[in-house]
Amino acid sequence: MFRDIESSNTLVVNEKSKYLESRGKVVYKFGFGESPFHTPSWVVDKLRLNANANSYSSVQGDISLRESVASFHKEFFGTDHHADDIIIGPGSKILMYNLLSVLKACDVLLPVPGWNSYARQANFLEHNVIQIKSSYEDRWRINFDNISLALTKKIHENTVMFLNFPGNPDGLNYSDEELISIAALARKSDITVVSDEIYGLLSFDKKYRTFYEFYPEKTITLTGLSKWCGSGGWRIGACFLPTNSRYKEQLKKNLLAIASQTYACASTPIQIASAEAYKCTARARTFIDKQTVILKEISNFCYTTLVEAGVKLHLPEGAFYLFPDFTNFTERFLKANIFTSTDLCVRILEETNVMLIPGIDFGLPGSYYAARLAYVDFKYEADNSSEFDMNLHAPKIIKGIKDLADWLTKLHG
Ligand SMILES: Cc1ncc(COP(=O)(O)O)c(C=O)c1O
Repeated sequence: MFRDIESSNTLVVNEKSKYLESRGKVVYKFGFGESPFHTPSWVVDKLRLNANANSYSSVQGDISLRESVASFHKEFFGTDHHADDIIIGPGSKILMYNLLSVLKACDVLLPVPGWNSYARQANFLEHNVIQIKSSYEDRWRINFDNISLALTKKIHENTVMFLNFPGNPDGLNYSDEELISIAALARKSDITVVSDEIYGLLSFDKKYRTFYEFYPEKTITLTGLSKWCGSGGWRIGACFLPTNSRYKEQLKKNLLAIASQTYACASTPIQIASAEAYKCTARARTFIDKQTVILKEISNFCYTTLVEAGVKLHLPEGAFYLFPDFTNFTERFLKANIFTSTDLCVRILEETNVMLIPGIDFGLPGSYYAARLAYVDFKYEADNSSEFDMNLHAPKIIKGIKDLADWLTKLHG
């Protein structure tokens, strides 16, 4: 009677770590990727004042929120989207799902390693998933060569390609040259690009350029409040439509139709508070800057400690993820009966209480020794004036990473 739907492993891992904690274990929760920062107080205050806003909002999203989102993105990224070109929904994940569901069966090209929900959603909606396989040597980036190879496996007329930077699971960005080259190929091959920029504002160098800038006609941008505003549980996502006018109108009509038949609208009080988050750009900028400084400091510590222990890693450039490649340890792992990335994460959890997500969950072969590490096991109010001190505010990061490095060093002999 029921279809076989795989649940998100990252959520399952979070549940598992909660269970271990309930049994008295100190678990270093580097599995679930959620912002470690509190929602800023001025945004929370706005929500408090509007809890009684109990009417449905428009399906497309409250106009004042869409206007704030449009001018915010114009200021941060120089984009020219009008409020009419933006659709607000309860999180970018459901917007992504609805987007995939309004498309006729097509080829969906996905970066590997990449966030597991892309493949799960596309498979569920019976699209043809084609992996774009990258490697450690490629900095886990998609490029002209690996996209071209993926295109040889097409079976449908229409093609959608996902792009995600700073990336989950690797925390890496693309250079302008790389984006230009991807855009040229997308244009030549008439590909619709879904650019998942949910971590864009958490880019450490503040030079983030949205993919829309390079390929406005057929780039659908997904973003939202979850990661930059410490509010994943608030569920606010935004979809920016492309400029190709015929395509845009059809897409918008379909997205609004499916929204009206499913979630109806995002929560009204949350939309009012979110408009506040997007409104005062100076305050938002200070808040974002503080977060990126903290995340960069932590990522540097994790990077240095793990590289010293012999792990292959690229210096992260944004978000809150690292994607350690443990293939230098292959011989040792085989001797220790660790054959897959899942075996590896189970052993690491059992022997160090450090929770990671195995590389197989990001589309890599099970036998490839890699895992995602989300360095978010701390909570901090980034809108206060106190100085962030890793020892004081994020001691579990220091202990967990050192324990992981020690475990690897001992295993290395
Ligand atoms: C790459 C990526 N895209 C999208 C999302 C979904 O974000 P939202 O909270 O807007 O649904 C996540 C959340 O973990 C993510 O990692």
